[in-house]
Amino acid sequence: MEGSKYDKILELASRKSLFYPSAEIYPNAPAGFWDFGPIGQAIRRKVVDFWSHEFVNKENMLEIHGSQILPQSVFEGSGHLKSFADPIVQCSKCKKFERADKLISEIIGKNVPESSPIDKLDDLIKEKKIKCQKCKGELGNVSKFNMMVESLVGKQGELKTFLRPEACQSIFLNFARMVKTMRLKLPQGIAQVGGAFRNEISPRQSITRSVEFSQMEAEIFFDPKKINELKNWREVKDYKLRILKLQSKNIEEIKAEDLVKQKLVPGRLIAYYLARTQQTWDKMGIPLEKLRFREVDKDERAFYSLATFDFEVLTSLGWLELIANNYRTDYDLKNHMEHSGTDLQYSTEESDKIIPHIWEISAGVDRTMFAILDTSMKEGKEGLYLSLNPKLAPFDCAIFPLVNKDDLPELAEKIKKDLQESWFEVFYDDSGSIGRRYARSDEIGIPFNITVDHDSIKSNTVTIRDRDSTKQIRVNIKELKTILSSLKENKELKDFGKYIN
Ligand code: GAP
Repeated sequence: MEGSKYDKILELASRKSLFYPSAEIYPNAPAGFWDFGPIGQAIRRKVVDFWSHEFVNKENMLEIHGSQILPQSVFEGSGHLKSFADPIVQCSKCKKFERADKLISEIIGKNVPESSPIDKLDDLIKEKKIKCQKCKGELGNVSKFNMMVESLVGKQGELKTFLRPEACQSIFLNFARMVKTMRLKLPQGIAQVGGAFRNEISPRQSITRSVEFSQMEAEIFFDPKKINELKNWREVKDYKLRILKLQSKNIEEIKAEDLVKQKLVPGRLIAYYLARTQQTWDKMGIPLEKLRFREVDKDERAFYSLATFDFEVLTSLGWLELIANNYRTDYDLKNHMEHSGTDLQYSTEESDKIIPHIWEISAGVDRTMFAILDTSMKEGKEGLYLSLNPKLAPFDCAIFPLVNKDDLPELAEKIKKDLQESWFEVFYDDSGSIGRRYARSDEIGIPFNITVDHDSIKSNTVTIRDRDSTKQIRVNIKELKTILSSLKENKELKDFGKYIN
């Protein structure tokens, strides 16, 4: 693939309206906000559906939808007002702000943790003679900048509120209610998909670092004494996880059981959810060799986490964090209990009152979508195409009448309506040569093309073309729904008939 893959993704995103800057018709629209057009939104919705199926459904979690604006007191309780801050530095000449840790890391080619002491960052800037990258001006002193996005509510703005910086805060606030009303028994996951907002100093690399973004978060509440008591342990104990240990340069494949034995993770429950995470993103279609868990050092961990494994994917931008897997212990419930005055303890079967511990799986929707686009973009005979998992494709299939006469459009429309009635999502295209239509469909990742031709009228059959192999079979129209459903479950075309060319 010639040229930068990242540029090709952005070009496709813009040309096909997958995603593009918000409020783009206004010249003063700020950076760091993105809209998703019809094709992008369809893929995004399917990413969320995939996660919902694998986590909420198969892991029997409770899903909630919480408010995005929350009162200041919540963030005093959560610690974000005090600790959710990035080190920043300003150029004395052009006045541009930069993230100090990111700037230094880029220049020296080594990761500098964001939690490094401010004087250490100042020393590094002096020692390495780092200047403003835009105008080469002198940099000022590093300071801490709180990333919370403030909002004012009330007629005179008398209620100080903030947009939540992580979706999960709503889950912690809902915990006591879930215990009372949903007969919650530990261990139990509570999940949520929703917006999060951060005043990123230098939003960059499109949807991978924006001010407003979406997270798919699962918070597993458990009794720390029972961290090794897990019903489903057998399902994953021999499954191999791809781990980059601290200070190591090589990814190792380690069985879930050995992660626990080697004390790399605090217990089975954590190894179980790490395994389910890798399995899910592998199933989405990201090649396993491009996935890894990176053990995160104390300096680099979020203020609430006792152990963190970042789940990363190798993209054209390098290794990109998709998911923060954090051991939040009792930090959140304990602090919200103290600040709100509400009892958030849980009575165990043994009648002990405990504050449950939390294992968090916090995934970015937008970054997952970017990773899916990046790892599925390929060069084919007809040009670039997205080799998307059919479950993540914007449409289940495309329908093309070969010509716009001889009753072919009427039959194609009828097949489309019939499929839509059964919840298939169908793209209809009747313009241009059939080759152009294949190319247009392939580049947005539609997995199967159905062509209605003159034989369709005579024999009630259509052809199905597979995007990746470009092979075709001819099938009876009556069997289309069954065949398309099976193809979505990774069956192959040849399971249903002979290739016809
Ligand atoms: N609740 C824990 C939490 O929010 P995080 O590492 O700050 O942890 C989790 O964020 C995930 O959210 C990241 O792995 C990433 O996928 C996504 N994310 C974080 N900041 C983002 C941003 N500015 N733009 C897009 N996605 C972001």
